[in-house]
Amino acid sequence: MKFVRYTLLAGLAIATPLTMAQTSTKLKVGLMLPYTGTYAALGNAIENGFRLRIEEQGGKLGGREIEFIKVDDESDPSKATDNVNKLIKRDNVDVLVGTVHSGVAMAMAKVAKDTGTILIVPNAGAEAVTGAMCAPNIFRSSFTNWQPAYAMGEVAAKKGVKKAVTITHKYAAGDESVKGFREALEKGGGQVVKDLSLPFPGVEFQALLTEIAATKPDAVYAFFAGGAAVKFVKDYAAAGLKKSIPLYGPGFLTDGTLDAQGADADGLITALHYADSLGTARDNAFRLAYAKTYKLQPDVYAVQGYDAAQMLAIGLTAAKGDITKHAQFTAAIEKARIDSPRGPFTLSKSHNPVQDIYLRQVVGKENKFVSVATKALADPARGCRM
Ligand code: BEZ
Repeated sequence: MKFVRYTLLAGLAIATPLTMAQTSTKLKVGLMLPYTGTYAALGNAIENGFRLRIEEQGGKLGGREIEFIKVDDESDPSKATDNVNKLIKRDNVDVLVGTVHSGVAMAMAKVAKDTGTILIVPNAGAEAVTGAMCAPNIFRSSFTNWQPAYAMGEVAAKKGVKKAVTITHKYAAGDESVKGFREALEKGGGQVVKDLSLPFPGVEFQALLTEIAATKPDAVYAFFAGGAAVKFVKDYAAAGLKKSIPLYGPGFLTDGTLDAQGADADGLITALHYADSLGTARDNAFRLAYAKTYKLQPDVYAVQGYDAAQMLAIGLTAAKGDITKHAQFTAAIEKARIDSPRGPFTLSKSHNPVQDIYLRQVVGKENKFVSVATKALADPARGCRM
């Protein structure tokens, strides 16, 4: 039996043997998430979901007890490479799980690829992670930015939107989301007449809302999440735009945010790979367990954290607890049908979920399931050679 641990030394991946004793110790999970800033709630929900799955499995994943080494990445790409290198070199983590922000995730993916460390991305949709940067040791339990955006664009076109304005934080996730929306809208005969943006994580929306009012589009497509989504939806309503111009978005606009958005979110239509009222036995059980454990309702981020833990367990079980057996670990996840609360999904060749995207509408405190907007949607994985 061959046990191998990859150690980063002067930028090189060096293989060193693992002993039996080491495989019976706790598996060190480097959890790199935002615990402060506009995406803090998303990071907490991901961790909650991940921990819930461990608890359901009697405190273990794939037979290994888990030790967490946590880093608050602050959704700051400029600190990301240092943060992830510390997890690998100083803390000797066995696996990386993170993160929320696309810019930070791309830095994590680069280091994971260079060192051969297993990385599971539980949110960030950066297309490069399972596109140009794809690698056998990189997996995603969430989505690409293109997936919900494209589905929402198809729906908007079917609703007869001819002229849309987009608005987003100016970084990879927002840019890719807007691009995906535009691609589908144009295919359906509509067009984006104006792209508006502001730097992440700014929330000074007033001037941009004035520009939307002056442009008078048929609809607005907005990519915001977390604290910024709360403020945007409230400001959109306060500016009087909600009555006259339909507001669409990927579901991040209203997921995990409805308590704070209140009536200002009522009726909003979004597209996402999760909804609050799927009503399946699998989702009901998950929602009940989550609510009992955390005294909170779960959201899409909690589901993605939960599924990241499921994927890790599948790989570890196949590798008999030894995460350094990459071939067994990877092959098992590649052929798995992951029993997610969102509905079962498989991974594409580039390791991104192939999944149904739901159309949802906000009713009170829920993103209610309306219909399946796009069945089994696979990201095109542009640039992935694997
Ligand atoms: C991202 O940066 O990829 C992202 C952040 C929050 C929600 C969705 C995507």
